[in-house]
Amino acid sequence: MKILLIGKGGREHALAWKLMDKDIELYYLEGNGGIERLGKKLKIEEKGWQEIAQTAKSEGIEFVVVGPEKPLVEGVGDIFRKIGIKVFGPTREGARLEGSKVFAKELMKKYSIPTASFEIFEDPEKAIKFLEKAKHPRVVKADGLAQGKGSIVCKNFEESKEAVKRIMVEKEFGDSGNRIVIEEFLEGEEASILGITDGKQIIPLLPSQDHKPIYDGDKGPNTGGMGAYAPYPGIDDEALSYIEEKILKRTLEALKKENIDFKGVLYAGLMLTKEGPKVLEFNVRFGDPETQAILPLLKTNLLDLLLACEEGELEKFKKLGWEDGYCVCVVIASGGYPGPYEKGKLIEGVEKAEEESCIVFHAGTKLMDGKLVTDGGRVLGVAGIEKTLPLAIEKAYSGVKKIKFSGMYFRKDIGKKGLKFVQ
Ligand code: AMP
Ligand code: GLY
Repeated sequence: MKILLIGKGGREHALAWKLMDKDIELYYLEGNGGIERLGKKLKIEEKGWQEIAQTAKSEGIEFVVVGPEKPLVEGVGDIFRKIGIKVFGPTREGARLEGSKVFAKELMKKYSIPTASFEIFEDPEKAIKFLEKAKHPRVVKADGLAQGKGSIVCKNFEESKEAVKRIMVEKEFGDSGNRIVIEEFLEGEEASILGITDGKQIIPLLPSQDHKPIYDGDKGPNTGGMGAYAPYPGIDDEALSYIEEKILKRTLEALKKENIDFKGVLYAGLMLTKEGPKVLEFNVRFGDPETQAILPLLKTNLLDLLLACEEGELEKFKKLGWEDGYCVCVVIASGGYPGPYEKGKLIEGVEKAEEESCIVFHAGTKLMDGKLVTDGGRVLGVAGIEKTLPLAIEKAYSGVKKIKFSGMYFRKDIGKKGLKFVQ
């Protein structure tokens, strides 16, 4: 089967790695140093999705796996399906769950899905008036996509006023800031639950935990994610069934009632509060870097699973198969990230990390004259699997130690928050 993979980061390398099989011919649109070794580039003349879909059709592509949210929000799900190509990922309508925080929050309110209380504003002056009297901390969020940077936690009125200005007046995130959501601040530990769905049922993958801030101890500005591990041990069976019933299934039902046939990944970013888990945000695709920690533990065939979502046959997987133990994935970034950083630094030691039996996922890498060089903010993800969480942490860092490039940076505490639950 010919498969087209959309996206070029660590998540997509993990998907490609897990999908690879002798019967699969993998194509990609834009690759990285890892994806390029597994597939072929689909030669396209123009960059519009309609044209890409036509090229894919003439190349004999039967199935498209979409990594990032942007193409889904732009409607690739509809465009490829219209010409008879199967897609893993929701339609444009379904992708609104991630593409519009206003849509997601209103849906949650209408169907009693646990989330932070909120107000919506279209006028910055009214928003500032509300904030003047509001209890702080508060969270100010741009409605639309903002590369993970559109949610600003504000300690006091000065900060929240500034956030409204940045989003609505200075338009730091463009039209994504035409509307904002102002939320109650929730306290607790964060976790990610990704549910896989065919529109009828939804099966949770292993719970995981991302590490968004750049520095150890969750300090500093947010990034795309500096590391993740699975399973996250802070969710017990009771909490997991609450999340399944009150969040995943209820959201799928809500979408159905709104006439949205949602297929793909329904990813709930959660805050585990004293009052129970609450949704911080929904995403409509696999998490990055959560995927690099979850997929190495999956025993069920990934292609069968993804195809079953599209074909409405998820019922054949009563339960997914998982390896015992933990997977920890540490992201290695370019110095300066998430701010400006240099590219083109020679990367050494990937094979040595693999000799430590780590899996090295490429994110911002490329091959230049046969040499692997840096090509992005998040460069590599080094994953280690072991029977216990402390051993998996040790394994992942033993791989990280083998890798060298000028200016490399990584967090030293990936997985640490999970240790209190397992010791
Ligand atoms: P979001 O883009 O909504 O996922 O938010 C990005 C990050 O901001 C989250 O991972 C949290 O760390 C933080 N955050 C978002 N909403 C809230 C909230 N209501 N209370 C506390 N922290 C939040
Ligand atoms: N790990 C955060 C995200 O994928 O959005």
